Amino acid sequence: MNGKIYLVGFGPGAEEHMSFKAKAAISESDVVIGYTTYIKLVKDLLDGKEVIKKGMTEEIDRCIEAYDQAKLGKTVALISSGDIGVYGMAGPTYEVLLQAGWTPNDDIQVEIVPGSTALSACASLVGAPLTHDFCSISLSDLLTPWPVISRRLEAAGHADFVIALYNPKSGRRTQQIVEAQTILLRYRRPDTPVAIVKSAYRRRQDIQLVRLDEMSNCDIGMLTTVLIGNSSTFIQEGLMITPRGYANKYSSLTGEAKEGEQAGISLSMGLEGWYACLRQYVQDNAGLTLEKIADYFGVVVGEVLNAIAAGENAGEHKAARIKNDSLADVISACEKWGRLRGIIRAEAGAVTELFLQAKDVEMRGDWLNIETDAFHCHINWSKVDSAYLACREGKSYGVNFIDNKGHLVFRLLLTKENAEFSAEKLQAYWHTWHTLVEEKDND
Ligand SMILES: C[S@@+](CC[C@H](N)C(=O)[O-])C[C@H]1O[C@@H](n2cnc3c(N)ncnc32)[C@H](O)[C@@H]1O
Repeated sequence: MNGKIYLVGFGPGAEEHMSFKAKAAISESDVVIGYTTYIKLVKDLLDGKEVIKKGMTEEIDRCIEAYDQAKLGKTVALISSGDIGVYGMAGPTYEVLLQAGWTPNDDIQVEIVPGSTALSACASLVGAPLTHDFCSISLSDLLTPWPVISRRLEAAGHADFVIALYNPKSGRRTQQIVEAQTILLRYRRPDTPVAIVKSAYRRRQDIQLVRLDEMSNCDIGMLTTVLIGNSSTFIQEGLMITPRGYANKYSSLTGEAKEGEQAGISLSMGLEGWYACLRQYVQDNAGLTLEKIADYFGVVVGEVLNAIAAGENAGEHKAARIKNDSLADVISACEKWGRLRGIIRAEAGAVTELFLQAKDVEMRGDWLNIETDAFHCHINWSKVDSAYLACREGKSYGVNFIDNKGHLVFRLLLTKENAEFSAEKLQAYWHTWHTLVEEKDND
């Protein structure tokens, strides 16, 4: 007789939100194993079954028990709230089985029965907060180091995802939600809508709609999921809504497509069309540095240079990418640019300016060394992935070395002589431009 393990997600709690398949799997099983609270939630389905209750910390015991019972030829339902594959028992069960030598071809079959996870159950109670890109992050640092969690919060905040926070707070873990709020307020407005949903579809269900800057002072516990809006989420008539983006394409929700847009086709900006928006912005706003433009669009300097290099009109800015096989040649070309200004920016804001001549620069192995009597500067050349000649007419002329994430490694600029750029040095600069840059691939 072959045993079977059903890994069953029974949804948020109420029986009407349990799938037919989840009920059928429990009904077919001889043994039901679960955390004490979960067993209580499905008690009406347990008549005549062997029931094994385990505590919160006994997760691996539940998996081992399920395997042991299946080895006896029984059908076992290991149950979990929500979806068993979302912060649930599916992962640990497979890990235990594989470690014991089980394979999918084994006599013991394993079947996962999906359920409605907390984030969709909670979202349904507050409106439609997840109708655009979202992610979920668990604030539990019991098994995941806090620096990993905080890096994910930073990334999700920066990328403007709607965020569902699972395991936001417990009796012992009270500061994680405060930290999460601090991180997200670096990227989101203080009045960003937040839904705090406790015990969705259970007896003690409770819903609070608040602002991001109020979140950490609210009543939040082990049975709460927190949904944090993105930059376009709004609350109206007590409903939290994240727009799908119809306004980008249509004049109104039921109206005609805007000029240049078509139903069923990517937005006209496509993958690169936003470059044209960036160039237009640069044309309309004189006096911006590459860093200011990057800040405005929330991108790295390498993307700004790419966008400027891709078209003809970017106001006072011009840029061109140097052919990849000519990266080192630009250093020798600098010899004719006269006295140079090396710019090195620290992430936290300090800007170092080094006055030098190209002869002070020497490549040694992976390092580009700039050595004068006044300073030594060592630049890890293996970090340099691309280089762009870039200028603001009459204001600055130089070359930007960029890493593979688009960050500026360092920049070399021509310097003025008697408050003017020398015509001869400028000529040498334009000569470099004409000999080392890639053919333009006009958009
Ligand atoms: C270990 S995770 C289990 C997630 C579950 N497997 C799921 O898919 O929903 C426990 C967390 O899920 C969330 N959660 C589970 N059920 C919930 C409910 N009915 N209402 C609100 N949040 C819930 C809470 O954030 C809780 O701390």
